[in-house]
Amino acid sequence: MKNWQIIETAMAVPNKVVTNDDLSRLMDTSDEWIRSRTGIERRHISQGDNTSDLASRVAHRLLTKSGWSADDLDLIIVATMSPDAYTPSTAAIVQGKIGATKAACFDLSAACSGFVYALTVTHGMLQLPGYDRAMVIGAEVLSKLIDWQDRSTAVLFGDGAGGVLLGPSAEPAVLAQQLNSFGQLSDRIVAGHTQVATNFPRPLTDLTPFQMDGRAVYKFATHQVPMSIRTAAQQADLRLDQIDCFLLHQANARIIKQVARRLDQPLSKFPINIDEYGNTSAASEAILLDECAAKGLIHRGDTIALSGFGGGLTTATMIIKY
Ligand code: ACO
Repeated sequence: MKNWQIIETAMAVPNKVVTNDDLSRLMDTSDEWIRSRTGIERRHISQGDNTSDLASRVAHRLLTKSGWSADDLDLIIVATMSPDAYTPSTAAIVQGKIGATKAACFDLSAACSGFVYALTVTHGMLQLPGYDRAMVIGAEVLSKLIDWQDRSTAVLFGDGAGGVLLGPSAEPAVLAQQLNSFGQLSDRIVAGHTQVATNFPRPLTDLTPFQMDGRAVYKFATHQVPMSIRTAAQQADLRLDQIDCFLLHQANARIIKQVARRLDQPLSKFPINIDEYGNTSAASEAILLDECAAKGLIHRGDTIALSGFGGGLTTATMIIKY
């Protein structure tokens, strides 16, 4: 078994900040409603930057912070549900921008579980000969998929990217991983659905905007996320109180508080930054990880549970030694 560790973390968000009050001037909503139902106060919204631009900014920062050269990379995975295009992959665009000539590159689509799914796939690929150094990025420009008239989704999401560099280590980082999919609930979160017309030749059609059954997803998350974390902890032979920090997908502060209650763990072990960024889907845990590292909220050797849930529906938990 080849071991790896997280060598470096980085994040990038657009400069433009949109507050709840800004949104209440666009649609029938209020700062009070958004704050009390979700914990969100503002979000960063892209003005012209696509997903690969944010991801490339993270990639450059990771290389600068680590001192690695782009040629050191064997693999780049970008987890995203808002790629620039069906093809090329966002990861290939990042590769081109940073000049990582040796790297195999592809995108991974598992919505808000995407970052942990991508870490798990990378864990497997790092066992292969020739794969020793990887870049895993979660990146989203969800604002391009949002119907800005639909208050039930528009207030929830933001744009951003975060990522990690993974490289060889003496000690194993991965203590457990749990990936689940619930395809029978696939219609609960849908974005960018394409219609196939029965006539030929057919006109080009637009993608459908983000649609979500919020209540169903809320119920799903508060039930399935604690189960996923408990199962992963059992797999790692850990009690929950032996986990130092739970980095959960930032979809709703109420969901995070409910998960903490269900796991009977103090809320202080569940960092929250949804107030600043909203739900950035596959980017959210990577952004949170980088912020926690920068603020000294997590330390080398800590046991950390990363746990995401979202479209698919999906859940994903990985327990690592940081
Ligand atoms: N502003 C004001 N009122 C609103 C808004 C808004 N932005 N949105 C909905 N309302 C109204 C509704 O119309 C409803 O009014 P009514 O009672 O007169 O019918 C009322 O507020 C309550 O609506 P609910 O949908 O019941 O509100 P709820 O408390 O469930 O909160 C929310 C909605 C925040 C979406 C919640 O259900 C939630 O967080 N769900 C989970 C979403 C999630 O986690 N998604 C992550 C996955 S996303 C991915 O994978 C990319």
